[in-house]
Amino acid sequence: MLVNFNNMLAQAKSGGFAIGSFNAYNYETIRGIIDAGSQAKSAGTIVAFGKKYLENMALEDAVAITSALAARTDMPVCLHLDHCDDIDVIRMAIAAGFTSVMYDGSALPFEQNATNTRLVCELAYAAGVSVEAELGSLAAGEQSHEGSSADREIYTDPDQAARFIAETGVDALAVSVGTVHGLYKGKPNIRIDILRAINEKAGIPLVLHGGSGIPEETITDCIHNGICKINVNTEISVYAVEKTAQALCSGERPHLSVIGKKQQKYVSEVVAKYIAFFRHQSQA
Ligand code: 13P
Repeated sequence: MLVNFNNMLAQAKSGGFAIGSFNAYNYETIRGIIDAGSQAKSAGTIVAFGKKYLENMALEDAVAITSALAARTDMPVCLHLDHCDDIDVIRMAIAAGFTSVMYDGSALPFEQNATNTRLVCELAYAAGVSVEAELGSLAAGEQSHEGSSADREIYTDPDQAARFIAETGVDALAVSVGTVHGLYKGKPNIRIDILRAINEKAGIPLVLHGGSGIPEETITDCIHNGICKINVNTEISVYAVEKTAQALCSGERPHLSVIGKKQQKYVSEVVAKYIAFFRHQSQA
């Protein structure tokens, strides 16, 4: 059964670990994510499907595949609509059976972002769906799947974060503290000082976007300062594409079904690595 993320994130917050939110685009990625989580006996896994991947898979297809695979594991699975700035798409995702949504109004002025987020919360909570919103703005990476080179980095302001949470009643807040969507050009410079200040005022689970390539010790610092959900996308894609290219370089031309099975494994390998970083076992 699919669940929303509230119980998972509450457990993560009290247990001092983070739940992974891994991006999926097709059967292979959803299967690879759920298999890795089940094998690691995770407290839960979030399958994230971004609005920008709607050409790869319809919302209803994401629900059908994810719920069928979630039914075969004891691990709680949340199907989350990632980065969506369109409230109509959010309505459709909720109607289709998504158990969680992210309204991304981070490009809007504070008041507009708060007003829209409040509306999304009303819609979602009526259906038992959890809501994440974003305040501040992440910089783009070199090979980003989610951002664009026009993105500007604006750190989340701790006082604004507290006001935003009080005004919207959102379940979880994505913050901008120096992570980027995509691959890091140099050493990541994550502002733990800003994160700590946000966490002191927020009182709800915080979300870190741009998880690909963050060193394990930085992830641990983030978890100690309120991060309960960490999103990973780019590294799953980069790794699976590289391994697929290597497999094909040998000159062999395997059946497409063989490549699909290998790709599930490649996805699982990256997800398993991050699950270990997030100390994400149910006994954590
Ligand atoms: P990365 O692509 O940098 O891992 O970021 C993923 C993300 O934040 C998805 O919302």
